[in-house]
Amino acid sequence: MNLSTTYLGLKLKNPLMPGASPLVDNLDNVRRLEDAGAAAIVMHSLFAEQIEGARIALDRHLERWEDNFAEATSFFPAQDDYVLGPQEYLAQIAKIKAATKLPVIASLNGTNVGNWMDYAKQVEQAGANALELNTYFFATNRRMSATVLEHRVIEIARAVRKSVKIPVAVKLSPFYTSVGHVVGRLEEEKIDGVVLFNRFFQPEIDVEELQVTPRLDLSSSEDLRLRLRWLGMLRDQVKISLACSGGAHTPADIVKALLAGADAVQVVAELLTRGPARMGELLKGLTEWMEAHEYESVEQMIGALSLRNCPDSEAYERGNYLKTLQLWRE
Ligand SMILES: Cc1cc2nc3c(=O)[nH]c(=O)nc-3n(C[C@H](O)[C@H](O)[C@H](O)COP(=O)(O)O)c2cc1C
Repeated sequence: MNLSTTYLGLKLKNPLMPGASPLVDNLDNVRRLEDAGAAAIVMHSLFAEQIEGARIALDRHLERWEDNFAEATSFFPAQDDYVLGPQEYLAQIAKIKAATKLPVIASLNGTNVGNWMDYAKQVEQAGANALELNTYFFATNRRMSATVLEHRVIEIARAVRKSVKIPVAVKLSPFYTSVGHVVGRLEEEKIDGVVLFNRFFQPEIDVEELQVTPRLDLSSSEDLRLRLRWLGMLRDQVKISLACSGGAHTPADIVKALLAGADAVQVVAELLTRGPARMGELLKGLTEWMEAHEYESVEQMIGALSLRNCPDSEAYERGNYLKTLQLWRE
């Protein structure tokens, strides 16, 4: 059975990898992920604010996360290890490369073209095999048009594309008026792939304290369905790599993401809560499913149920809107 896939031009032994998270700030976890069969390591993001020297409350953000999910914190490194400053981040690339044989995908996170762009070059020089760009922002000002917002993403992607030779992926939010158009524009800018999608953390209102508080809920398999729709819709419309990020928790989730059209599947919440060894179980489950369904290769699976091959294209296009509404029975 051939589990290999090509993602961002990298030949990978299988489609599974940890997505960007603090899990891989710790080298023991990285080794455990490799032992469990991960095909690549996506690093925790380095934030533009860190590079540009502004204060970033990364560890505060993580403390809150720990409060919400105390049971998962045993997989984390000590608090002091969280914040990899720009120099430590470069060193971490080299450390992961030395500790494993896996390709390393570094991650830069910023919202504007700025001085931090040069950092892409340093990440490349430090040995990263590819770069993931996360442009986590959305329009909160009503005067910002969709065009302006999209243009910012394209500008960042173009600037980074120019400065490095390694493959570049852009991790997108699902909140674009036309997701497909943005992905198509990124392809025109010679971006090698997109990661669908970023997961936005929503604020919560504390009705006793009368405060708006941040709340970090981890995903569930339900989150996958938004990804499935866009993977399935885009698979045959673009040639660049597609990675699924969000809601992959079980072997069946991995299977679905591949059938919809993902070249690679990134897993975070499931590994944060169950530990790096869970990667091995996911991989085993994928292999068992392939055996039972007589698939000889992952390549055969990718896009087998994309929009083009879907007998009921409405399921992707309008989500069988009307039919679905009729499914409700008392
Ligand atoms: C604690 C935590 C930290 C994260 N840090 C990053 C990050 O630094 N960069 C990034 O692009 N995504 C980050 N993410 C988002 C994940 O990479 C992923 O897109 C998201 O969790 C959805 O995948 P999942 O459903 O498998 O968790 C983080 C997620 C969590 C839960």
